[in-house]
Amino acid sequence: MASEFTRFCALSDLPLGGKKPGKVEGKIVLVVHTKDARLFAVSGMCSHQAKPILAGKVRNCTITCPTHGARFNLETGEPLDLPATSPIETYEVRVVDDWVEVSTSPRAE
Ligand code: FES
Repeated sequence: MASEFTRFCALSDLPLGGKKPGKVEGKIVLVVHTKDARLFAVSGMCSHQAKPILAGKVRNCTITCPTHGARFNLETGEPLDLPATSPIETYEVRVVDDWVEVSTSPRAE
């Protein structure tokens, strides 16, 4: 099944080291542009108690939930610390014509 991508924001609105929340197909999504120029799209909600992670600190390809401090791998969504034990959703992200696009469709295997 082909992924359906939605235009999220202009790449210029997401500088290196920046992050931007938004909604894609009803899901709260956080797109992160790391300092080493990698783009990630993850759920904006923590898997622990469904609190927002939008204000979480990004460091070395991880984001830290501001509520209880669990860190998540931005690439895989896997939790790296308790109290989180489940991954957060990760989404496909790409740049087309200087637009950041996100797909929340299931990933093609
Ligand atoms: S709500 Fe994120 S670690 Fe508890």
